[in-house]
Amino acid sequence: MRMIRTIKQLRRALATSRSKGKKIGFVPTMGYFHAGHISLMKASIKDNDVTVVSLFVNPIQFGPDEDLAKYPRDLKRDSRAAQAAGVDILFVPSVDQMYPQPLLTYVDAGRMGDLLCGATRPGHFRGVVTIVSKLLNIVHPNALYLGQKDAQQVEVIKKMVRDLNFPVCVKVCPTTRERDGLAMSSRNSYLSPTERAQAPAIYKALCHARKMIADGERDAAKINSQIKKLISDGTNASIVYISCVGLDDFCITRRIKGDALIAVAARIGSTRLIDNIVVKVK
Ligand code: PAF
Repeated sequence: MRMIRTIKQLRRALATSRSKGKKIGFVPTMGYFHAGHISLMKASIKDNDVTVVSLFVNPIQFGPDEDLAKYPRDLKRDSRAAQAAGVDILFVPSVDQMYPQPLLTYVDAGRMGDLLCGATRPGHFRGVVTIVSKLLNIVHPNALYLGQKDAQQVEVIKKMVRDLNFPVCVKVCPTTRERDGLAMSSRNSYLSPTERAQAPAIYKALCHARKMIADGERDAAKINSQIKKLISDGTNASIVYISCVGLDDFCITRRIKGDALIAVAARIGSTRLIDNIVVKVK
């Protein structure tokens, strides 16, 4: 595996692969790898000739009171894990490399970027789509690999790819979970043992919602209130939002129909956790 730190070197390395007709898969990350990241890497390795993973904690997607400074970082461990997974290139640019001058041009994530997580993290999705579009312009991959855990990020990026004609195929991989159901996230490392024991309540409540829907419930308010009750009963979590939305447009649904996303964000202690399920109703 090559570790590359500059855009120029990465472009040079990939131009050679491209000229040989190699298919390039790309996994954008902020590092502190867990099994979810590794599953994205493995999916890319399986489908492509060359897999590029970027590791960049992107400052413009963090709000002023968010966890940019304390976001977990361990380059040695990450580089060992990426190498063991079979990644070809780990791209680790500095902030100066990605943002050499103050940025004057951003990509707007549109209406979908202001909903759900965007409502309490203003500017977050603008930061995400801006860095992802920069990375796509640098890597020019054939396929981009994202995790379903960040369902809103997936949909916002899919719309950006469509609206701005990026010639890339977006592949979405299932959420990787701990044995007790907690969705894997680099931020889980912030949880104290007591908080960690409470955190699976979010997924348990989502699974209960799935069962309610399978049993015929369609009223989104009833489903939301049951999720709220299940999370609040077993934890000290403060709920940021619980929403049933249409998967394609993120519009709030009163009655579950078609492809719906049920998404939750909750704070356990000071850690903000998100999770979701997709339900398909005929
Ligand atoms: O999901 C993440 O880790 C980040 O939002 C991403 C896509 C790498 C952009 O910084």
